[in-house]
Amino acid sequence: MSEILHVNDIYKNFGAVQALSGFSMSVNEGEIVGLMGDNGAGKSTILKILAGNYLASSGTVNFMGKDVVFNSPNDARKQGVEVVYQDLALCNHLTASKNIYLSREKKKFFFLMDHKHMNDTSQGILDQLNSSARPNDVVSGMSGGQRQAVAIARTRLSMPKIVLMDEPTAAVSVAQVPVILEYIKNLQKQKIAVLLISHRLPDVMKVCDRIVVMRLGEKVCDKSKDLCTPEEITGLITGAIKSA
Ligand SMILES: Nc1ncnc2c1ncn2[C@@H]1O[C@H](COP(=O)(O)OP(=O)(O)OP(=O)(O)O)[C@@H](O)[C@H]1O
Ligand SMILES: [Mg+2]
Repeated sequence: MSEILHVNDIYKNFGAVQALSGFSMSVNEGEIVGLMGDNGAGKSTILKILAGNYLASSGTVNFMGKDVVFNSPNDARKQGVEVVYQDLALCNHLTASKNIYLSREKKKFFFLMDHKHMNDTSQGILDQLNSSARPNDVVSGMSGGQRQAVAIARTRLSMPKIVLMDEPTAAVSVAQVPVILEYIKNLQKQKIAVLLISHRLPDVMKVCDRIVVMRLGEKVCDKSKDLCTPEEITGLITGAIKSA
């Protein structure tokens, strides 16, 4: 399997808070990597560096064979990185379809919005996610699970190399969890890699090939899922076990 992403010795501080302290990891083509860790471990911070939201204080990111610095989310997306944020980052006053196509609106005759195309495509993606959300529903009136589906649907307008997902099953119903996990497996079938941040060990054990655990901004475990036990991962997350 070829490596598509390698982050090396990343440090990130927010004033006096050291969020990442020499964090390194890699992701291979089509690999599903679970990123776990306690609250404040630095998971969302590394995701936001890879998504072009934050600049690292130091360290390097190599993506698709070249050193990159993503200066904005658009920059990262253009190079093949799609993201589902922990807070979902949706516009509450807009419809599902408008959120899915935000900043990528489909035009017809060069300047008119092609609402029909956007609604039809949005409907198709929401159906794949088994979501009851409809393209014309306004996000402010949606349930947590429907909002999550809209945020995930945004990643399907392009053919990314990697999808970064921050807690995609945290706010969804018990019935919707397997749909999202199946969806992640389907990305893999299309050779799209997934970095899955999750506090839910059963989800990570079910879909991931490899598990990385962070603690206080550092990596304390990086190994094949088959070599991990739930007890060890839990110990690494809480700090009861120092490293694997
Ligand atoms: N924008 C910011 N400004 C200041 N401090 C921040 C900012 N973002 C994160 N931090 C701090 O950096 C550390 C890592 O935060 P991060 O959000 O990456 O944790 P996390 O692993 O995603 O946690 P959680 O599981 O709660 O989502 C925390 O101490 C947090 O308070
Ligand atoms: Mg987080």
